[in-house]
Amino acid sequence: MSKSPTKLKAEILRLTREFSAAAHTANRPGSDPQHAPFVPGQTTVPYAGRVFSEDEVAAAVSATLDFWLTLGPEGDAFENELAALLGVKKSILVNSGSSANLVAIAALTSPKLGERQLHPGDEVITSAAGFPTTVAPILQQGCVPVFIDNDPSTLNGRADQLEAAFVPGKTKAVMMAHTLGNPFDLAATLEFCRKHDLWLIEDNCDALGCRYDGQFTGTFGDLSTQSFYPPHHLTMGEGGAINVVRDMKLKMLAESFRDWGRDCWCDSGKDDTCHKRFGWQLGDLPAGYDHKYIYSHLGYNLKPLDPQAAIGRQQLKKLTAFIHARMDNWNYLRAALAGLEGFIQFQLPTHAIAWSPQGFAWDNSGHQTECSWFGFTMLVKKSAPFTRGEFVKCLAAAKIGSRMLFGGNLVRQPAFVSLRRQQPNAFRVTSDLAGADRIMNEAVFIGTYPGLTRAMLDYMADTIIKFVSSK
Ligand SMILES: Cc1ncc(COP(=O)(O)O)c(C=O)c1O
Repeated sequence: MSKSPTKLKAEILRLTREFSAAAHTANRPGSDPQHAPFVPGQTTVPYAGRVFSEDEVAAAVSATLDFWLTLGPEGDAFENELAALLGVKKSILVNSGSSANLVAIAALTSPKLGERQLHPGDEVITSAAGFPTTVAPILQQGCVPVFIDNDPSTLNGRADQLEAAFVPGKTKAVMMAHTLGNPFDLAATLEFCRKHDLWLIEDNCDALGCRYDGQFTGTFGDLSTQSFYPPHHLTMGEGGAINVVRDMKLKMLAESFRDWGRDCWCDSGKDDTCHKRFGWQLGDLPAGYDHKYIYSHLGYNLKPLDPQAAIGRQQLKKLTAFIHARMDNWNYLRAALAGLEGFIQFQLPTHAIAWSPQGFAWDNSGHQTECSWFGFTMLVKKSAPFTRGEFVKCLAAAKIGSRMLFGGNLVRQPAFVSLRRQQPNAFRVTSDLAGADRIMNEAVFIGTYPGLTRAMLDYMADTIIKFVSSK
């Protein structure tokens, strides 16, 4: 007699776990030294990577066997769990952090927002140094990014430049990233947005689990975004989310832009949630036209697959441990590299003015940040007897992964240089962007991700200390 699907599935999942336990040891923190010994100088120390166990692999296989495929039960559960964890009204899954940024800004262009709708030519303030797809969606929606500078000490956009960037009647929103797990000055930014009635989109893609005055980043603005690409705080391969912080009207708009621009809000596979599927008359369509095929926006289709959400749900269970590991790894590296301040400027959390082995000293703003660090960033000082180029080559030779702060000063990227040449008013710059240039020229970051072991951290610190001492 053939086995039942339930029995077969259980057997497949048992074997899947067995397989993953044998095949994926290198993807577990403190991985079994018998299977994956760390050999300094030979084993690569990545700047980031996927950390997972049999749980994620079994969840992916289980959801694939169920074969719902399109965003469905796992997606719903993930969205609810993420929203509950952050304490926001709704989280909406998409297929990447870049898509999340695109949907977030697109949602604000909806005519349903009345006077607060973003129109082509409206200005959106952002910061110059960072990842390109924090900014590209602003342009893709016909709006004008206005760049403020970044502070090389925190890497974040300088809130003290917001007022100078503001133009009455033109400026409609602020959209900035919490850079590499360091919250930007939310108190000053929120005050500015409230004063001028501006939207705030927090790009929280690199900062899941960070806190500002004890509250999670991504929960202060109107909308915020996440990326679930492998180097990020949790992964589902590709993936991202838009968090709707308070206003459920924005949920309808963001979902519409994610899902083809449709007016209907039925979940996939469901009909007639509004109980008047054939009772609408919208646009110039005939009365009773099927609501499923009524489009109130020029939308996209940016949904991920259900098995991705199944992986993400397992990762969510580990998020608290991941966040603490990132903090511990950063603190460990910072303590190990104390004494190199003459050559290297170490990143500080926003509102911190100094680091000591006892902790941070804070400015007198009354605000504090808790960083779930995406990486450990160092700026090679101009006075150092070595260049950033020599430093990164030393790291590469030692097989220590490093990255620059993504696109550096974005306005110096070929895409922005040619855009300005073709359309001089496509974006605006409000200062000399000297901080963004310094970050572009001097910054490098190494890993803090939960897959790093103590042996790796010691090796990273020793390599840097030896390199600096040799100069
Ligand atoms: C700040 C920031 N925003 C957006 C993104 C885009 O995320 P994704 O790679 O998932 O598209 C990234 C990517 O790392 C990022 O660093």
